[in-house]
Amino acid sequence: MTKAKNDRNFDSIAGKFQQNIYATSKGKLREKVLQRDLAELPQLQQGSCQILDVGAGQGQLALWLAEQGHQVHLTDVSAEMLAMARDSAAERGLLSHTTFSHAPMQHLVQQGVQYPIVLCHAVLEWMADAKQAIADLWALTAPGGTLSLMFYNIDAKRFSNIVYGNFNYVLRDLTYKKKVHLSPQNPLDPQQVRDWCIAQGFVVQSKTGVRCFHDYLRDRSEQETEFEQLLAVELRFNRQEPYASLGRYQHLILHKPA
Ligand SMILES: C[S@@+](CC[C@H](N)C(=O)[O-])C[C@H]1O[C@@H](n2cnc3c(N)ncnc32)[C@H](O)[C@@H]1O
Repeated sequence: MTKAKNDRNFDSIAGKFQQNIYATSKGKLREKVLQRDLAELPQLQQGSCQILDVGAGQGQLALWLAEQGHQVHLTDVSAEMLAMARDSAAERGLLSHTTFSHAPMQHLVQQGVQYPIVLCHAVLEWMADAKQAIADLWALTAPGGTLSLMFYNIDAKRFSNIVYGNFNYVLRDLTYKKKVHLSPQNPLDPQQVRDWCIAQGFVVQSKTGVRCFHDYLRDRSEQETEFEQLLAVELRFNRQEPYASLGRYQHLILHKPA
C-alpha cells in the first residue's frame, strides 16, 4: 500500500483554498454539478445512507448530504481543512450526522472499513500514486456500492492554456518554473483513470464534465456576471460529447458489483 507521505496535505493553504476556490464561480459551479449528479443516485433517494468522504476538505458536499439525513464520515490528512468542516457542521447543527478522522485514507484501508457510498472529489490529482489510490478506493467501497470520483483533467488544462495563448507552457508539458500552490500537482489523463477503474472491477455508470465552458469564456468577467445562465448551459451539456471531455474536472460515478 502506498504511504500517504507524498500526498498533498492542505494545512498551509486551507484559508486560501476557501477564498480562491469555494467562494468563486469555479467552486459554486462544481458544487451544483456534483449535487445534481449525486441526487440521482438511487441509494441516496432511499433513506439514510452511510457515506465516506475521502479527502473531504472543508466538507462542502459532505455537509450538504448530512443535511439530507445521511451519516457522513469525513477523513482528511489536513487538520486545518477538517477543523473548518467541523466548525461548519457545528454551526449548521449537523454534528450528529457527521464523524471526522484526521488520517490518510490509506489508514482506513488498513482498518478494513467499507461504505456503500464513497466520495473522492479533487483528491486524486494531489496523490503520489493515483493508480494505487483507485485500488484503495475499491477496497473502501462495499460490494454493490458506489464511488463518486472527481479528478483534475489534464486535457482540459492543456486546452485552456492553448486558448489563452500559453504555448510555451504547453510545449514544456505543462510544467511551471515555480511551484503554484493551488494548482494540482498531478493532473490526470481521463482515459488512463477510466482504464485503472475498469481494470480494478468498477463499472462506469456516468461521466460528467465539470467546468466544460466556464474556463473557456472570452470574457472571463461573465463567469460571475452571467453565472446563472452559464450554470444552465453547463448542466444541460456537461454529459454530452465533446463537451464532457473538456471539463476541467471529470466526475465519474462508478459501481462496484455485488
Ligand atoms: C483539493 S482538496 C479537495 C477537498 C474536497 N474533497 C473538495 O472537493 O472540495 C484535497 C484534499 O485532499 C486531502 N488529502 C490529500 N491526500 C490525502 C490522503 N492520502 N488521505 C486523505 N486526504 C488527503 C488534502 O489535505 C485536501 O484537503
